[in-house]
Amino acid sequence: MYTKELKQFVGKEVTLKGWVSNKRESKTITFVVLRDGFGFCQCIIDQQNVGDEQFNDSRTLGLESSVEMTGKVVEDERQIGGYELHVTALKVLQAVSDYPIAKKEHGIEFLMDNRHLWLRSKRQWAVMKVRNRIIFSIHSFFQERGFVQMDAPIFTENAAEGTTDLFETDYFGQPAYLSQSGQLYGEAMAMAMGKIYTFGPTFRSEKSKTRRHLSEFWMIEPEMTFCDIFGNMDVIEEFLRYVVEDVVEHCKEELEILERDTSKLLTVGKKFPRLTYDEAVKILKGEQDVDGQNSIQTLENDLSAVKASISAKNTEIAEREAAIAAGGMKKGQINFNQNKIDTLKQELKQLEEDERNIPNWIESAKNFQYGNDFGGSDETVITRLFDLPIMVYDWPHEVKAFYMKRNPENPKFARGVDVLAPEGYGEIVGGGERETSEEWLKEKIVEHGLPMKAFEWYLDLRRFGSVPHSGFGLGLERMVAWICKLEHVRETIPFPRYYGRIAP
Ligand code: 4AD
Ligand code: MG
Repeated sequence: MYTKELKQFVGKEVTLKGWVSNKRESKTITFVVLRDGFGFCQCIIDQQNVGDEQFNDSRTLGLESSVEMTGKVVEDERQIGGYELHVTALKVLQAVSDYPIAKKEHGIEFLMDNRHLWLRSKRQWAVMKVRNRIIFSIHSFFQERGFVQMDAPIFTENAAEGTTDLFETDYFGQPAYLSQSGQLYGEAMAMAMGKIYTFGPTFRSEKSKTRRHLSEFWMIEPEMTFCDIFGNMDVIEEFLRYVVEDVVEHCKEELEILERDTSKLLTVGKKFPRLTYDEAVKILKGEQDVDGQNSIQTLENDLSAVKASISAKNTEIAEREAAIAAGGMKKGQINFNQNKIDTLKQELKQLEEDERNIPNWIESAKNFQYGNDFGGSDETVITRLFDLPIMVYDWPHEVKAFYMKRNPENPKFARGVDVLAPEGYGEIVGGGERETSEEWLKEKIVEHGLPMKAFEWYLDLRRFGSVPHSGFGLGLERMVAWICKLEHVRETIPFPRYYGRIAP
């Protein structure tokens, strides 16, 4: 019997088994929020109903004690999950009194050190459920359309995405690298099967500590034969729309726990803007407006608004603190004011971060050098002007990977496409049309300093029945971060690996 089944047992007696995720006490009642992994249920332990002994047991329950609770299921819309249990019998499996993660705020390093326990918290539970649904809906999308899921190797002889961030391992005395991308193998598999996708772990050894980078992450990489850059963009758009809409429909409770404003996600119903790199650069530098909005101008306006808001909040904090200090307030009033002050201070943190960031964004947008790749802040500046994902294509070929097809009409550009998510999430998808010419590929392999021998098998794909083909890679964790509106990708995966962390 699990919390998710309570609906079918209203008015009946059931036994739930799980852990104490929250507890509150009144004189003769203990309120326990029990979690069983499937969901949450408030359990009401009334001294009158369970007797003194079990009531006293309930008083000893600390967070994460394991318990069995028997009682009557009562519908109550106000409760999370929608039901509560009026307990008639309580059995304690293990009473815990020193669970390290208390309800008070902990620093992120502490939480990460205790990731094996932190996963039990309500927010983390919700994130993992959303991640699970995203994975399910990704498979549905591709399977419904006849794509075959195939697995690329993890030990590889060569670099797919450049040599700077490879993890080297010892493969029976010979160097091997952990895969950065399954794509090159995906291309070979697509030539055999028509349309495939890989779904596997990928590794990048970049020493970057940004909110978007992990050193081990999961990537979904479809590869399609007889498909050009524009067909590729059509699939990307349909795919992202499908996944977002499916997750919003099936993860209502989880997204509510995460306080996610889903109307901001459902903008994916509209057509995704497609910009060339050249247009994106003009927008970034404020040389081209989007619907009458200018990137630099809106940043400057926002900075003024942020400054005004900071000073208003500081004033309010000072006033409330003065009122408390003046004395004469009832306990309830003091608490009310103290809570307000805490909330204001929390909001200030975000505003002060904006106050520091925005001038840097303006600076780097204005000074952006045409021909460079976009940095995280450039992506933020561009995407702020849109309320849905945008696709940027036709990049200067120098900044893109060796396998990108050159635009036949203008070989300065490579037919890569990046999808930039709204709300500051930046690049979630990178892909493109693949070069079909053996000669051009060889040139690129040399230019990138890659060992030709390790790519002979890849060149065979151009020697034996070469066809136009395209594909892309979605970073699962970035997708989860965007859908859940998380500050950092480290919360999107059960046990994150990023620069500086390998435990637990
Ligand atoms: O843009 P990337 O490097 O593209 C490729 O690897 C291509 N071979 C994909 C393809 O065409 N089949 O990576 C693709 C996506 C990025 O858009 C991002 O979402 C994610 O993978 N990603 C990362 N996610 C977390 N941490 C990192 N260090 C990431 N690097 C890339
Ligand atoms: Mg990329």
